[in-house]
Amino acid sequence: MSNQTPNGKKRIGAWILSGSILLLVSTSSCYYDKAEILYPQTICDTAAVAYSTAVTPILSSSCNSCHGGSIPSAGIKLDTYTGVKQQVDNGRLWGAVSHAASYSPMPKNGNKLSSCNLDKIRIWIAAGAPNN
Ligand code: HEC
Repeated sequence: MSNQTPNGKKRIGAWILSGSILLLVSTSSCYYDKAEILYPQTICDTAAVAYSTAVTPILSSSCNSCHGGSIPSAGIKLDTYTGVKQQVDNGRLWGAVSHAASYSPMPKNGNKLSSCNLDKIRIWIAAGAPNN
């Protein structure tokens, strides 16, 4: 019995060691998987948000299939600056994309925009929605 106790401790020690190695390995793979959460600045660049480079791409990929062209949905035209600015000024653009109560949630029948894209739109609107 007196010999088994130190062995038992060694075994526990080995278990703890292999356990922490396992934990390390699984934790480091988590870091790679969730880079956008760990390094939001490098993935979601909101430092220089401009209409032409940040906002227009979001609208053309998520909105303008319905809100572009000659017969835009609900008469809301989002493929021209004038049309977009109008919806910014009346509060509907932010209300719709942020899924605020009493606005029709946009994109219609689609997933809510990513938080990165919402940040870009919010920052651009807060800057006065310039045509830059
Ligand atoms: C599948 C077509 C479709 C897409 C995609 C779409 N919309 Fe709409 N949108 C509509 C329709 C139709 C309406 C009229 C209201 C309704 O039917 O819900 C509307 C209404 C709106 C309104 C007015 C909301 C209100 O409550 O007054 C805004 C602003 C708007 N859309 C912005 C957007 C933006 C921004 C996007 C992209 C992020 C987008 N829409 C994507 C079809 C679409």
